[in-house]
Amino acid sequence: MTASFNALEVTENPPGTFTRRIVRKTPADLPPGDVLIQVHFSSLNYKDALSAIGNKGVTRTYPHTPGIDAAGVVVEGKGADFSTGDPVLVTGYDLGMNTAGGFGQYIRVPASWVVRLPAGLSMEESMILGTAGFTAGLSVDKIVSHGIFPGQGKILVTGASGGVGSLAVAILSRLGHTVAAATGKVEEADFLKDHGASEILSREEVRDAPSKALLKERWAAVVDTVGGEHLAAALKTTAYRGAVTCCGNVASASLSLTVYPFILRGITLYGVDSANCPMEPRKSIWEKLAGPWKPAALSRIAREIPMDQLDSHIDRILEGKLKGRTLVRMKEGTA
Ligand SMILES: NC(=O)c1ccc[n+]([C@@H]2O[C@H](COP(=O)([O-])OP(=O)(O)OC[C@H]3O[C@@H](n4cnc5c(N)ncnc54)[C@H](OP(=O)(O)O)[C@@H]3O)[C@@H](O)[C@H]2O)c1
Repeated sequence: MTASFNALEVTENPPGTFTRRIVRKTPADLPPGDVLIQVHFSSLNYKDALSAIGNKGVTRTYPHTPGIDAAGVVVEGKGADFSTGDPVLVTGYDLGMNTAGGFGQYIRVPASWVVRLPAGLSMEESMILGTAGFTAGLSVDKIVSHGIFPGQGKILVTGASGGVGSLAVAILSRLGHTVAAATGKVEEADFLKDHGASEILSREEVRDAPSKALLKERWAAVVDTVGGEHLAAALKTTAYRGAVTCCGNVASASLSLTVYPFILRGITLYGVDSANCPMEPRKSIWEKLAGPWKPAALSRIAREIPMDQLDSHIDRILEGKLKGRTLVRMKEGTA
């Protein structure tokens, strides 16, 4: 058991002003819980950045350690489910929101949040995927379960260079789908093609026409990660009986639309929530991500940073400047 460890801490002082720095903590500082985990890897998600800048919709009280993702090894486990040394991962639930998260070198959480690391994934790979990969997996699962099959038509992914977007491109391509990637970073075309996109579109090319209730049918399905007018346009351009998934709001949380995509084209809009996904479907998605859905070039989709670079990367993800995933090494010397 460790005496003390490093954690990124966000403090609010004076009210409304948030600063972040790495501090020393002890396990006694962690909340009560069944399982104490030494974190080997975490990852940076958009939601972590919101927590780090004081978004009270994500984190109500400070000081706080963000980090909605963690992979590591069980140090202490109450009950029979987990033993010392078991490799595990935790994503979502309240981790990093109002429970000290994966940007600390130790976390303590309820056993009901903990997933045994599936065979076929290293801890490092599980955090290259992280919440973004799990959310991409949930989105793809909706499309596959809807009955969309490879060859039926192109699948559009918006916010394609981001974490969820780039992993959705990679998973869909691995499954044999033809993927069109809409991005604000057309200069990253090679990165997106490397992960399986067959067509790169600028955001303008998939822009909405607010005055029109429907637009020309273009996609068998859409994975939308940005919301707002991109989601509206996705619903208006998806082909008859197609499916659109919605998980994010980086562009906007608003949706301005008529009912016509639903009542004239039979479009289905699937909401995707990763945080509170129940444990059985959660395990099933992780098994797929570790096996038949595992992106081919997982290591090339991420950059690895030490925890002292979290500060600058938090700013960059908020500016929409990061591509792919940011893996955070929390334990030095971890293979
Ligand atoms: N529902 C869930 O369970 C769940 C889980 C994970 C994430 N999310 C949400 O999904 C979204 C994506 O998360 P992420 O972790 O992938 O974030 P990310 O890595 O920051 O990626 C977001 C991408 O969206 C695009 N983008 C940024 N600002 C935009 C704007 N103003 N208009 C249009 N596109 C913009 C950019 O890609 P391009 O430059 O390529 O366009 C950016 O890289 C966030 O809203 C996040 O909160 C939800």
